[in-house]
Amino acid sequence: MAIDHHHHSAPIHGVSAQRILPDEAGTRNWDRIIVDERIKSRLLSHALLALAHEKEFYALPGALQRLVILSGPPGTGKTTLATGLAEIVSKELADRGDTCLVEINPHVLPSEMLGESQRNVARLLDNSLPELSLRYPHVVVVIDEVESFAVRRSSASFEANPIDVHRASDAVLEGMDRLMKRCPNVLVVATTNFPAAIDEAFTSRADLVLSLEIPDVETAAKIIALSLEELAGIWPELESLAANSELHHQLAEACVGWDGRQLRRLPLKAMSDRKELALNPEKLTPRDLFAAASM
Ligand SMILES: Nc1ncnc2c1ncn2[C@@H]1O[C@H](COP(=O)(O)OP(=O)(O)OP(=O)(O)O)[C@@H](O)[C@H]1O
Ligand SMILES: [Mg+2]
Repeated sequence: MAIDHHHHSAPIHGVSAQRILPDEAGTRNWDRIIVDERIKSRLLSHALLALAHEKEFYALPGALQRLVILSGPPGTGKTTLATGLAEIVSKELADRGDTCLVEINPHVLPSEMLGESQRNVARLLDNSLPELSLRYPHVVVVIDEVESFAVRRSSASFEANPIDVHRASDAVLEGMDRLMKRCPNVLVVATTNFPAAIDEAFTSRADLVLSLEIPDVETAAKIIALSLEELAGIWPELESLAANSELHHQLAEACVGWDGRQLRRLPLKAMSDRKELALNPEKLTPRDLFAAASM
């Protein structure tokens, strides 16, 4: 986690992490998600259009919504890609100044919001984020699992008082609008694995909605390769496994339907299967990997 050495400000309510970019991690998250290049290039272009021309768009309110939604099944890389977008954007825009990445933890908000309705969300959207937008040239806000933040009003049916849910949801939408109007240097990236649950009024505010999918065999092979390469960085004996693309393809074919998270963990799953391997991971063999793939 990056620490802002210049400002020892109090933790912001609802914010789970804050990083000033570019930092020593470079574009690690961006690089390690393997998706169709078109997805990455559209994401990056949209973010740059939004953040590099804030003055122009300020004069054209409403022309460009600085909200991007990443949807897709669990484990397909949404959160990693959202934070990775901030990394690559910060690198591209480095000569115009820093980028502050703010990760919102939506789980702390709803339960409190429901009782206190608008107060907490207003504090975040009307005070904390605008303050950051004054302090940093570019701000990327990642709202993870946005469905718990912008609950679809028509389907909200928990024990909570439905009137509170409506109020909270309205507060989010109105707060987002104010944030976007007041702070042209803020880009919001929202992730969800349950697009049907998000308020239509929220999705209609996004100019770009991209969905990530379960990897195809080709992509799965690359993810397995990447995972083995990383481990070979620790245990050089694993280099031959990491370089064996034939093996990666065969494994990928045995793992059809696996999400990116499961594919990435395949070698670790294999290593944790036997005590001998757990103690000596460098002894991993193709056979162990196939065994893990069939579990
Ligand atoms: N396409 C991919 N390429 C490489 N790694 C991937 C891919 N998809 C997921 N992963 C890896 O799987 C792990 C989980 O990814 P991440 O948390 O970003 O997924 P998510 O879509 O946000 O999941 P969830 O919906 O459960 O929050 C990370 O370690 C990530 O690097
Ligand atoms: Mg996620």
